[in-house]
Amino acid sequence: MSRPVVYLSKLPSRSRFPAESVLFYDSVLASKAVFKTWASKFKYSVALKSGESLKTVDSFNQVLKKITKLNIPQSTQLTFVSVGGGSVGDFVGFLASVYLRGRGLIHIPSTWLSAVDSAHGGKNGLNFEGVKNQVGTFYPPERVYLCKELLNTQPEARLSEAMGEVVKTAVLFDEKLFTEIETQKKIFSGSQIWKRLEKLVAHKYAIVEKDPNEKLGLRRLLNLGHTMGHVFESHYGWPHGVCVLLGLEFAANWSLQLRILNKSEHARIVKMTQKLKVEKTLSEALRGLNSKKVEELLKKDKKLTGESTLDFIFINKIGRCVRKKVTLANITSEFKRQKAH
Ligand SMILES: NC(=O)c1ccc[n+]([C@@H]2O[C@H](COP(=O)([O-])OP(=O)(O)OC[C@H]3O[C@@H](n4cnc5c(N)ncnc54)[C@H](O)[C@@H]3O)[C@@H](O)[C@H]2O)c1
Ligand SMILES: [Zn+2]
Repeated sequence: MSRPVVYLSKLPSRSRFPAESVLFYDSVLASKAVFKTWASKFKYSVALKSGESLKTVDSFNQVLKKITKLNIPQSTQLTFVSVGGGSVGDFVGFLASVYLRGRGLIHIPSTWLSAVDSAHGGKNGLNFEGVKNQVGTFYPPERVYLCKELLNTQPEARLSEAMGEVVKTAVLFDEKLFTEIETQKKIFSGSQIWKRLEKLVAHKYAIVEKDPNEKLGLRRLLNLGHTMGHVFESHYGWPHGVCVLLGLEFAANWSLQLRILNKSEHARIVKMTQKLKVEKTLSEALRGLNSKKVEELLKKDKKLTGESTLDFIFINKIGRCVRKKVTLANITSEFKRQKAH
């Protein structure tokens, strides 16, 4: 299977898209000169207000109404092009998968997080009743254009958020990358992420290609840090990447407690999450929750493999993780243990 990713220094020329393309973009991009000139070449375009509120059934309804008014061509060549971060990609991916029972999809990520992670692998989703990605499909894009000039328009804050998924990938598959991030005095710069983008993306495709629809369980490895990460994200509304880092720290603590991970590797992981995370800490995240709420949010998690079991990703060593079945009661008692610590 050939991978859909194309690396470019500039935004792709209009000729790379079918005539019947509709551009969906994060409205913050409208103020960026490089994007504005490029976007003007599309006849049909829809500006979206990004964030978790975009990934809702309400906004889905509104956008559907908007595109109906645009009278876009209902042809088989119709292609939806998303330009934005993960929220825009998830929303447009879902829309493309169900509109007229499925039309073309191209992603052009504009945040590091989406370039590293969310634009790849075909998962999309809308949130419902405060729970992340409750409604969604697997719908791989035909192309993902990773464009340096667009990604370079982001402010610094987006870098630390992307590092959540970068560190996750390193802990899962790449000890060398972990060491590179660890030995850096500062957080990675945009050009340092760009240099490693191809490698980071390749790690994700290697798993996704073996288990595209998450049927074998292998793809669940990519959920490292996400079980508790999604609990924090749903409860506090903090950025996804920050919550993944905190969830990773929770997983490292639990792995140490079960003696799956040794003390020195645990210390390296905890130090890393402390180094990178913005203003939030794991103890702050645990403090504001109780076990009843944690259980309630976990129950709505699509990662449940049975009525009250789920696959939790533990860390064996940096570069190697293991999947183990746990019960909700196991998680909540570990939550209490870590909270009391
Ligand atoms: N589908 C998947 O496999 C997958 C994987 C990981 C995360 N996600 C989802 O991705 C979302 C998080 O991604 P995100 O952080 O990219 O979210 P986002 O789309 O909310 O973007 C974050 C912020 O960056 C701004 N922004 C985007 N591009 C910019 C640019 N070039 N310059 C300045 N600001 C810019 C946005 O306006 C927004 O305020 C979550 O909804 C998460 O669930 C999905
Ligand atoms: Zn994620």
